[in-house]
Amino acid sequence: MNATPFVPEALLVTGGCGFIGSNFIRMLLTDPQFADDRFRIINLDKLTYAGNLENLTDVEGHSRYQFVHGDIADADFVNHCLNDHGIDAVVNFAAESHVDRSILDSGPFVQTNIVGTQVLLDASRQNEIKRYLQVSTDEVYGSLGSSGFFTETTPLAPNSPYSASKAAADLLVRSYCHTFGFPGIITRCSNNYGPYQFPEKLLPLFIANALEDRQLPVYGDGRQVRDWIHVSDHCRGIAAALHQSSPGEVYNFGGECELENLRLTETLLELLNKPDSLINFVKDRPGHDRRYAIDCAKAKQELGWQPRIPFETGLKETIEWYLEHQQWTDRIRSGEYRIYYDQQYRDRS
Ligand code: NAD
Ligand code: TYD
Repeated sequence: MNATPFVPEALLVTGGCGFIGSNFIRMLLTDPQFADDRFRIINLDKLTYAGNLENLTDVEGHSRYQFVHGDIADADFVNHCLNDHGIDAVVNFAAESHVDRSILDSGPFVQTNIVGTQVLLDASRQNEIKRYLQVSTDEVYGSLGSSGFFTETTPLAPNSPYSASKAAADLLVRSYCHTFGFPGIITRCSNNYGPYQFPEKLLPLFIANALEDRQLPVYGDGRQVRDWIHVSDHCRGIAAALHQSSPGEVYNFGGECELENLRLTETLLELLNKPDSLINFVKDRPGHDRRYAIDCAKAKQELGWQPRIPFETGLKETIEWYLEHQQWTDRIRSGEYRIYYDQQYRDRS
């Protein structure tokens, strides 16, 4: 841990128009506990199907914020971006992030998650940035049996093309730290929930479907276990790691809230006052990881971080948010996403 907190001058946030990135940027600009006039934020995003400028309309025009449209895998563009904006720190959220899509086509996952990370690392070295934080996932550790937890030293054993591409990126960061003394930090977090999550992921998908009285496609027996963390707790962890961690460190973040998918689905339906008959057991995801569980003792001890939002409170607030933002979901669920969704579930049911 760093005795003197690191404060950048200009922070590049990649993938800031997605779910977690937009929550992170909003927190750094508007939360009194984190807003810091000493640094500017540049948001570099390719605006894929998952990136949405609308997620940050409330901070557009903020004096410390700027959006730049581009691809993290475009070396010339990234180099110029770092140089032109005087970037001295990077937080890399940009990724293809959905496991089911990676099973349909792993190409974009290799391109953005691996090649994009390599390009960012090289540009960061060239521009002598002082901190680089790679936002990673607990999925790189693979799957657990009914007991045990992932720690930062658990061997990487990714099972899906998504998690394999994230693990490859983590290993590149690790190798740059080891080989070049690069100031890289890796954070690995469990399943996030909260506002602005793209409605292909479990919670927003099931909320949107239930509100329309459509079926909720539970994969397999629904007994898979995920650890749920509110996105704001994850964002606080990333900020703590950016400012306080020494280069070369890895931190796990989790919500200490393990739940079976089926139990979560039933709770959701209960809160929405919808019948269990909406549950539709569909063919399992190929290679579906059975259980994730995180030991975040290191982050607690070294960063003074811990998850704050109890799941019951966070879930109720999240449902409220999606109820109040149904038009946001409707806009996002139209177009390209609808085609993917129909294809996905035609093959499963
Ligand atoms: P998301 O899919 O909602 O957002 C990804 C963002 O990256 C989008 O704005 C997209 O436009 C952008 N992007 C994609 N390819 C790009 C490229 N080549 N260049 C620039 N921008 C690009 O994802 P998310 O759920 O917000 O996840 C963000 C990060 O956190 C990812 O790296 C993911 O692996 C990691 N993570 C997510 C979770 C989770 O539960 N969602 C948990 C742990 C870690
Ligand atoms: P997801 O939100 O895709 O996150 P991840 O696969 O990265 O953990 O899925 C969370 C869990 O919910 C996972 O076990 C798969 C399951 N799931 C379903 O049962 N049905 C669905 O329609 C989706 C999207 C996920």
